[in-house]
Amino acid sequence: MTPKIDLHCHFEGTATPSLIRRLARRNDINLPDGLFNDHGGFAWTNFIEFLNVYDLASTCIRTRLDYRDVMYDYLKSCAAEGAVYVEIFSSPDHAAATGMSYTDHVEGMAQGIDDAERDFGIIARIIVTCVRHLGPKCALDVANAMVSDPHVYVVGFGMGGDENQFEVADFLPAFERVSNSGLPTTIHAGEVNGPHSVASALDILPVSRIGHGVRAAEDLKLLERIAKTGQTLEICTGSNLALGLYDLDSHPINTILQAGCRVALGSDDPPYFGTSIGAEYDRAQNHFGLGSHGIARINQHALAAAFCDEATRQKLRSRFAF
Ligand code: HPA
Ligand code: ZN
Repeated sequence: MTPKIDLHCHFEGTATPSLIRRLARRNDINLPDGLFNDHGGFAWTNFIEFLNVYDLASTCIRTRLDYRDVMYDYLKSCAAEGAVYVEIFSSPDHAAATGMSYTDHVEGMAQGIDDAERDFGIIARIIVTCVRHLGPKCALDVANAMVSDPHVYVVGFGMGGDENQFEVADFLPAFERVSNSGLPTTIHAGEVNGPHSVASALDILPVSRIGHGVRAAEDLKLLERIAKTGQTLEICTGSNLALGLYDLDSHPINTILQAGCRVALGSDDPPYFGTSIGAEYDRAQNHFGLGSHGIARINQHALAAAFCDEATRQKLRSRFAF
């Protein structure tokens, strides 16, 4: 099986409907209204509804054991598809909404990472994220919590949420706080918003990766710039298709690669978007025609862009034939 790397997935967004049901039972809470559709899947039809349902489902994840189990469950499924390394976005704001402290949520996830590495050989690290639509003050609080309470598995900082809220510059204090502490950062841009959102992230923030960034393909000069400066785009085609950004024939992954940009793949929120890291690799290799050479190139870019320490990167390199 081709070894795979997932550089873009959201912890809360990896929990399947059946796991969410199990956690609700275990925590003796009622499932929130409006969470599931008639087919048992998460009930959303557009990006804003997706964010709302994601928040609802997250309220069922509320103990250290829950954090451990969600992490373990996702890493187990990734390992079964040949993934050797996963970077997973955690959201301290979602944890706080259910009364979990920053430290408890990280330690719960770390336990899941250790257990999955022991059982399946897969390695994972955490990127702590803020939620854009909660605003710059919340973002700075998350950055401060992360910097003042470091954990060896927390290897970077990011931002998800509604790209249409606030300006990129509003978040500079949070990104600078993390960057000044020596950790790398990434931001969701060029997903629901156009190429200017990617350009302003590159102009203003100390980011070495862009979450999605696919809409940079609408501006060839911007693609040239990204190719030259070398930031890696974390591309999640299944998410883009599910959210209706593109259909299979119009997705710009090949335009982006041909412009010389560095690309890694991600599953984003697998049970919401009907995807998995295995499906992402399969779609890239077979539908988008990257073939085994293209996949090797993506793995090289992903490995180089991973936020893990150098010893872990070297260990991972031995799993690849390049
Ligand atoms: N985009 C933006 N924010 C998110 C996402 C996403 O796909 N998933 C969870 N938060
Ligand atoms: Zn995402």
